[in-house]
Amino acid sequence: MIAAIVAAAGSGERFGADIPKALIQLGDRTLLEHAVSSVSGVVDQIVVTAPSGYEDRIRTLVGDDVVVVTGGATRSDSVRAGLAAISGADFVLVHDAARALATRELATSVVAALRGGDVAVVPALPVVDTLQNVDAAGYVLTAVDRTPLRRIQTPQGFSYSVLKAIHESATDATDDSTLALNAGHKVRIVAGEERALKITTPSDLATALTFLGSATTFSTGVGVDAHAFGEGRQLWLAGLHWPDEVGVEGHSDGDVASHAICDALFAATGLGDLGSNFGTSRPEYAGASGVTLLKETYVLISNAGYSISHVSVQIIGNRPRIGARRAEAIATISQALGGAEVAILATTTDGMGLTGEGRGIAAIASALVIKR
Ligand code: CTP
Ligand code: MG
Repeated sequence: MIAAIVAAAGSGERFGADIPKALIQLGDRTLLEHAVSSVSGVVDQIVVTAPSGYEDRIRTLVGDDVVVVTGGATRSDSVRAGLAAISGADFVLVHDAARALATRELATSVVAALRGGDVAVVPALPVVDTLQNVDAAGYVLTAVDRTPLRRIQTPQGFSYSVLKAIHESATDATDDSTLALNAGHKVRIVAGEERALKITTPSDLATALTFLGSATTFSTGVGVDAHAFGEGRQLWLAGLHWPDEVGVEGHSDGDVASHAICDALFAATGLGDLGSNFGTSRPEYAGASGVTLLKETYVLISNAGYSISHVSVQIIGNRPRIGARRAEAIATISQALGGAEVAILATTTDGMGLTGEGRGIAAIASALVIKR
């Protein structure tokens, strides 16, 4: 039995995003989903170490076949947390979510070396830059011969007993091969991959995108919707109920923000529009909520091979005030769209036109989608 630990519990400080690095989108999927697919099919069991507080979100991303545990304060602590969830394995691969684009072939070659009898196996690449030791004042001290130097990657493979032994004490290193080496084990090198680069900064993400290549194409779409206020109606907007506000007229719940997003997604994917997909010829959608239509749109575009890179919507009207409930609205719409990145903005129009005169609410949305 072969198990894999995907270390994804880091915060990604050097990347500088407001979400953990493993949840950053690369093409059509998060770094974590890419990294899980780097080992899936090669191993029998996968354990992901999640940043504390993100366990459920990660469970929905990776599905029921993957075990999700809470990671630790350091990478080594996280690997130990993952290891605790594994029993009965012969070999364990340890892979960084940050090395999202490692291929299955790489994991396979690591496993082949383990089957050949090596107890610790790491992918490695030669160093291409000139290397020098420098002093604190900014002067070069001595040149370093780069010939014997290698850049070490993941997935790294270990016999279960070696990985268990090197993590018995709470020592830290930037990878597991260093712990194995320090414990006196022989560490075998296999050929690494440029595309298994460690995504540390936004520019690494741009480099990684080039490895996805022409297999991926982006397209954009715009959608607009507007409804007039109607007395006695409940207001639904951006997936939320606004209890103290006047609602809008319409057959549906009149959620202009959700409708504009659906149309932007249909525009980007060339799959028609709200009317052609959910209009009068489909009576089952009469009175459907904005969230229901978002979910249905998500299913339609997913089935057509698209995934969402980003969606934004600007709500145009004098009220309601969006700001106080922006985070709640973003979370609701994002969830309806399979966890997509969503931005919600709002503006007034200086007293001009339908919404400026206070007669209704409008929304304009844009969507960026990816087809593989
Ligand atoms: N990692 C982990 N638990 C930690 C720290 C890191 O599981 N306590 C994981 C990261 O999620 C990442 C891998 O170890 O996939 C390599 O770490 P690194 O690239 O340094 O990621 P971060 O620690 O998240 O980034 P930074 O150091 O910039 O904060
Ligand atoms: Mg780190």
